[in-house]
Amino acid sequence: MTTLQAIGVIGAGTMGNGIAQVCAAAGFPVVLQDLSQAALDRARKTMEGSLARQIKKGTLTDTQAADTLARITTATTLDPMADRDIVIEAIVEKLEVKAGILGKLDQICPEQTVFASNTSSISLTQLAAASAHPGRVIGMHFFNPVPVMQLVEIIRALQTTDAVSDAVTALTRAIGKTPRVSKDSYGFIVNRLLAPQINEAINCVYEGLATAEDIDSMMKLGANHPMGPLALGDLIGLDVVLNIMETLYQGFDDPKYRPSPLLKQMVHAGYLGRKTGKGFGSYPAA
Ligand code: 3HC
Repeated sequence: MTTLQAIGVIGAGTMGNGIAQVCAAAGFPVVLQDLSQAALDRARKTMEGSLARQIKKGTLTDTQAADTLARITTATTLDPMADRDIVIEAIVEKLEVKAGILGKLDQICPEQTVFASNTSSISLTQLAAASAHPGRVIGMHFFNPVPVMQLVEIIRALQTTDAVSDAVTALTRAIGKTPRVSKDSYGFIVNRLLAPQINEAINCVYEGLATAEDIDSMMKLGANHPMGPLALGDLIGLDVVLNIMETLYQGFDDPKYRPSPLLKQMVHAGYLGRKTGKGFGSYPAA
């Protein structure tokens, strides 16, 4: 397989715009697609803010930031994915929606285009089965905040070819990230370990053992975590955490992954964390 150069990113939310930014910062031309122009405009603002942080820190020049943004073109349809070497999908965590996108991409892209999913826990093997060419489907799992976190977890579906896995591993290095490969399983490795910890921290709040603030500071002071599990849940999005717990619970059919009742209530109330301004902490609009 030739080197992957032209990159498409589907979904301009938190993860999608971060992925587009790091790929463009590494010199790759990117098409970022979302259904609405408003979502694409929000994504550009987020990327500008993130690049501005790096300029302020002195790790990026004004010119490099401008060049990064110039390498990203936006689209509201999937047609511009036709000339991409790889399309990375970072849309809603629903198997049928992701499978639908793969089916559409099958119609638009040539057979050699690689299809990567940033899914946080959906079975890659099931996703790959939705493509007419399942060997080209692979998981490329980025972490939030994407410009900062080093790891990309690469998940091989049962069907993924060695050539696709090798090409995606090389691309991950080329965008300055560290690849680690995992076989396909519910939650893969990182979220299988991380989400139950956040869920258990929420159970500690539910049982009234300590305040959210104290639980977070215990994990920072006692386990040297950069942020506590409840603040991390707010960063990731509590709806995303619930989604991962449900995938683990239903996938493994094991009660040890049961979502906390309080996690469900928080999501029902719309207290999703940073993105809604309220979760276990409060986040006034900047
Ligand atoms: N863009 C660019 N740079 C950013 C940034 C962004 N969006 N956010 C933070 N930074 C940079 C800052 O400029 C700073 O750089 P410096 O150290 O070189 O000066 C550095 O990151 C640290 O930022 P801050 O000083 O503002 O804040 P903290 O020191 O408190 O760090 C944090 C913030 C990086 C978020 C840190 O608390 C952390 O690593 N937390 C854990 C995050 C984590 O576990 N993420 C994984 C979540 S799981 C996931 O995403 C998978 C999904 O499937 C659910």
